[in-house]
Amino acid sequence: MDYQHATLDLLDDSEEAVARRRGWITAVLRGFREDSPGDDLVEKWVGHYRSDAVTVRGAWLPEGEFAAGPMPVATYASLDKTLNAGRELVPLRMITDVTTSASHRRRGLLRRMIEDDLADAVAHDVPIAALTASEATIYGRWGFGPSTFNTVVELDTSPGFSLRSFVDPGRVELLEPADAWPHVRAVFDTFHARQRGSVEWPVQYEDIHSGTFDFDAGGPNRKIRTALHLAADRSVDGFAVFKHGEDYSLVVQEMIASTPEAQLGLWDFLAQMDRIRKVTFNIAHPDDPLRWALADVDRLKTTGQRHFLWLRLLDVPRALAARPWAADGTVVLEVADAQGWAAGRFEVATRDGVATVTRTEAAADVALDAETLGALYLGGVDVRTLHHAERLDGADDAVARWAAMADLADPPYCLTGF
Ligand SMILES: CC(C)(COP(=O)(O)OP(=O)(O)OC[C@H]1O[C@@H](n2cnc3c(N)ncnc32)[C@H](O)[C@@H]1OP(=O)(O)O)[C@@H](O)C(=O)NCCC(=O)NCCS
Repeated sequence: MDYQHATLDLLDDSEEAVARRRGWITAVLRGFREDSPGDDLVEKWVGHYRSDAVTVRGAWLPEGEFAAGPMPVATYASLDKTLNAGRELVPLRMITDVTTSASHRRRGLLRRMIEDDLADAVAHDVPIAALTASEATIYGRWGFGPSTFNTVVELDTSPGFSLRSFVDPGRVELLEPADAWPHVRAVFDTFHARQRGSVEWPVQYEDIHSGTFDFDAGGPNRKIRTALHLAADRSVDGFAVFKHGEDYSLVVQEMIASTPEAQLGLWDFLAQMDRIRKVTFNIAHPDDPLRWALADVDRLKTTGQRHFLWLRLLDVPRALAARPWAADGTVVLEVADAQGWAAGRFEVATRDGVATVTRTEAAADVALDAETLGALYLGGVDVRTLHHAERLDGADDAVARWAAMADLADPPYCLTGF
């Protein structure tokens, strides 16, 4: 089939362009098994994508072909924001809305769009690409590795719940989501600047967290509530956006705290609410202090863990220079990359937590592929584990040297969905 690949001009308001935009959004929702869009949703979606200068790609059937029209048979979108790499915020190509119609699957449509987009990112000096994946088996072939995992937790808050000795130096206030939004945004901005692995929020987060628009309901979100944590000096240092669920449960949609006290203060507030038996959160911080602050450690259950942020290095020297390093050392790294962007041998020399990375012809100490490098990049998995899993080659002493340099004490964390 002679598919027509194109990018949509979101500023074109001609009848044809408007129909194609709507067709594209309808195709995305069909690909993700969601309801067809209403007018409000289309308007919101287009507004967000304009604000974030999203590149909207698709493949259409050729004119005159049966079923040809404004609706594409494959969709793909991407935008550039930032990733906290640990030492710096680096430009990040964020990929989203990847779907291929069930009647055109496995004919190379995704391959064409993702390879065009990654080449465009390279041309624009964007050193890293990211996505979240519906299935873990799709994106390794394009050099993406899972770099953060989300931890799903469930807290039993039935009578008898208590923390061991925690006394909140601050307090919690409930605000209407729209009033809380500026504080929520400020807490996120602080978090994004300090947390390795954090991805900048796309613009739709304002509508989502302020309750202005719920993409599932296709209109305002009347269910969410926002709790703000105030430090002793009354500055806002944490928030939880939540809603009430079934059987006296409370579902946390998003929770970020700038300090351990704010984190425990928010948990304690949610847990102490009357007639709440259970609190769940899908993206808990791997180092959340809650378990060790509980009088009964068994009240917190980890009920799931899943790959979350997938990263793909496009510019190895720049990306590695943007992350922190744990020890001084020198290692020659050999990266295999089917698409070539990360391929080659690199001398990584670290001093005082900073790497200098140069291409070299010297013999390799440690060899790995782009997918494994993406998984390793933020320090979400350690070098020894990857070596044991046969994802990384090298003599034991070279692997140990690389581990001392690359393994980081604190885990990365991302809770931005896109
Ligand atoms: C995932 C999806 C977009 C793939 O699109 P596609 O156009 O069929 O993919 P392509 O034909 O370009 O496939 C390229 C390669 O990826 C592989 N691949 C594609 N989908 C895969 C999947 N779900 N699992 C494993 N491998 C997959 C193909 O086998 C092919 O491999 P090869 O080139 O190494 O032989 C499509 O199946 C889809 O729309 N799924 C539902 C929505 C979804 O899950 N989107 C992903 C969101 S992250």
